[in-house]
This record gives sequence, C-alpha cells and structure tokens, in this order.
Amino acid sequence: MNNKTKILVTGGAGFIGSHLIRLLVNKYPDTLIVNIDKLTYAGNLANLKDVENMPNYRFVKADICDYEKMQQIFAEYQINGVIHLAAESHVDRSITDPFVFAKTNVIGTLTLLQAAKEYWKNDMNGKLFYHVSTDEVYGSLDHGGFFLETTPYDPKSPYSASKAASDHFVRAFHNTYKLPVIISNCSNNYGPYQFPEKLIPLFINNIRHNKPLPVYGKGENVRDWLYVEDHARAIDLIFHKGKIGDTYNIGGFNEWKNIDLIRVMIKVADRLLDRTEGASEQLITYVADRAGHDLRYAIDSTKLHEELGWSPSLQFEEGIEKTIRWYLDNQDWLDNVTSGDYQKYYERMYINQ
Ligand code: NAD
Ligand code: TYD
Repeated sequence: MNNKTKILVTGGAGFIGSHLIRLLVNKYPDTLIVNIDKLTYAGNLANLKDVENMPNYRFVKADICDYEKMQQIFAEYQINGVIHLAAESHVDRSITDPFVFAKTNVIGTLTLLQAAKEYWKNDMNGKLFYHVSTDEVYGSLDHGGFFLETTPYDPKSPYSASKAASDHFVRAFHNTYKLPVIISNCSNNYGPYQFPEKLIPLFINNIRHNKPLPVYGKGENVRDWLYVEDHARAIDLIFHKGKIGDTYNIGGFNEWKNIDLIRVMIKVADRLLDRTEGASEQLITYVADRAGHDLRYAIDSTKLHEELGWSPSLQFEEGIEKTIRWYLDNQDWLDNVTSGDYQKYYERMYINQ
C-alpha cells in the first residue's frame, strides 16, 4: 500500500493537520503533499512556516464543499490518497451554530468522497480515502468501560452528530461504490498550535494573563488526552499499513478529570512563570455547565497496538510540560490567533492567488 505518492491532506493548516503535514513532508520527500484548507478562524498558515518552502509541499486555499474545485484538485495533482481532517471541531461552537457543522463536516465530506470516487472510478486499486474522526461519535461513558471499534454510535452534541454522519457516509461509499476507505477515531488531542478555544491552550493563555479559568459544571467530566504528534504518527501508520474498510481507535489510556488536569496545568505553569506554586488556583472559576456535556470519553486502542504496533511515545507529565512551555514561549502565536492578525499573514503570502 505504499504507492500513494500524491496525497491530499484536508485541513492541514489546523491543529492536528499541521502536525501531520510536518511529519509527512519531512518523512516522505518523494511524496507530494497537497494541503487544502479554507483557512477558517482555526486555520493558520503560520503553523506551517517551517515546511512551506519544501519542494514536495503545496498549499491550495479551498473549501471542501466546492465540488468543482475538488474535482480540479484531484485531476491537477493526480491524487491517489486522501487524508481528510478538515472540519469544524469545537463542541461549544456547534451548540451555538450547528448549521456550519452540518455543512462542512457532512456535506464537505460527502463532496470529497464523490470527487475521489469519480476521479478513481476506473481504477480504485492502491487508492485510499482515510477519514479522521473522533471518539465523540460513540457518545458518553459512565464511570466504567471503554469505547471499542464496535461500540454503537450514539453522538450527543451537534459536533459529534455531524462527525458521526460523515463517518456513515464514508462507510456507505465503501459498501456501495467499493471506495477504499479507512476511518480512525481518536481521543482528545493536546499540544502546540491548538486554537485557544479548546481547554488546554485557553487555560494556559488565561493563566499567563491572570484571567479567570472558566470550569464548566463541577469540573468532573473526564477526557482521555493524547499528545498530537502521537496522533499524527498513528495516522501515518494507519494510512500506510491499515486494512481497507477497517476502523481504528486511537488513544493513550490517559484519562483525566477536568479539574485534576487543570490543577496539574496550574502547577506546571506557575513553576515555568516563576510564580509561587499553586498561586493561579485562585483563577479557577466555576461557570454554568455546557449544554448536554458528555461525562466521560475513554478509548480502547488495543487493536491499533496489537495489529500495527502503535503506542504513544510521550508520558502525559512530559507532554503537558512540553505543551505549556511551547505556549509560554510562543506568546506571539497566541496573540496573533486571538487578535485575528494571522489573516494578515495569509494575505501577505497569498494575496495574489
Ligand atoms: P482544527 O479546528 O484545529 O482545524 C480544522 C481545519 O480545517 C482548519 O485549518 C480549518 O481552516 C479547516 N477547515 C474548516 N472548514 C473547512 C472547509 N469547509 N474547507 C476546507 N478546510 C476547512 O481541528 P483539529 O483539532 O486539527 O481537528 C482535525 C480533525 O481531527 C477534525 O476532523 C476533528 O474532528 C478530528 N479530531 C480532533 C480531535 C481533537 O482533539 N482536536 C480529536 C479527534 C479527532
Ligand atoms: P474541549 O477542549 O472543548 O474538548 P471536548 O469538549 O471536545 O472534549 O473541552 C475539554 C473539556 O473541558 C470538556 O469536558 C469541557 C471542558 N471545558 C471547560 O471546563 N471550560 C472551558 O472553557 C472549555 C473550553 C472546556
């Protein structure tokens, strides 16, 4: 399956996509990596500054809902593999505006599937449409048990409902048109370049600025955290070695109650900021709970470990310190994405496209 030499990555200017692009562009110098991204508020070309001039990398600003543009890109670059990450990804935004989630996550995925199917219809051999999904499609767990690849879908938020719908379309294209597909469902990611609307970067930024840390409900919800580079390594492995038609769960068996995770972040950040350890605990502010807040996610990634030999490389303590250090050292990045200045970077770079 190693013959996919022209890979289309969608959403490559986002958090996970930028780590994946960095890995692929450096690891496979003879493979063309075409990044298409609409550059929504979550997409930022500054995330890819270190690879933007690599000879095997191309960027195209495009919306995955634009069928003609997708057709044109498949033909122009003779795409033989897709890794699809582009999505609206934040649960809170999905509660405020579910329509854009249905549009990008469902219609966008369907548009790409159709473009791939049409472009590959005479020869599906050696092609692959890899869809990156989330553990949130499985719903919410109580205090025991794990999500398995066989766990029935039970999405609870507009975000997870839209991701679940897109997963169903991917499987339907495999069943109906024999499109070669793989899906992976990963737990919560953390690491550099995550937009500061998500818990970890938001709280690091707020600690830095002595702003309140808004904890939803009692802070007792549980998430299973994986360092983003370990997710990117898993995607690379599954893309090249995974079984067509299969699903792989990705997670590090690393569950944290929100409030416990927040206390660890405070401890590390205070140390790195030369504050008295625990001084920032006073910033913790309990606020109204998220509507329909999923209690617990916990993924069982035994299949990926046993079939493909993947394991996370970083212990959580190491990963969270590395992450906090990165945000504190890259305050400019945070200031840019929070002020909207990163759009100016794009205009400077691509104004004439
Ligand atoms: P992100 O929000 O950081 O990035 C999404 C990217 O998609 C952005 O660059 C954005 O500009 C782009 N995009 C959005 N709409 C687009 C459109 N219509 N056309 C083209 N590009 C568009 O998201 P992320 O956290 O990097 O997540 C990437 C993927 O991984 C998503 O599919 C998400 O569901 C999945 N996932 C995320 C996590 C997580 O913890 N972040 C966990 C599991 C799975
Ligand atoms: P988030 O990073 O939004 O990821 P997801 O909802 O997809 O798991 O949130 C992680 C957890 O942190 C989740 O239980 C909601 C909680 N949370 C807060 O308590 N306060 C916040 O300001 C945010 C953004 C999240």
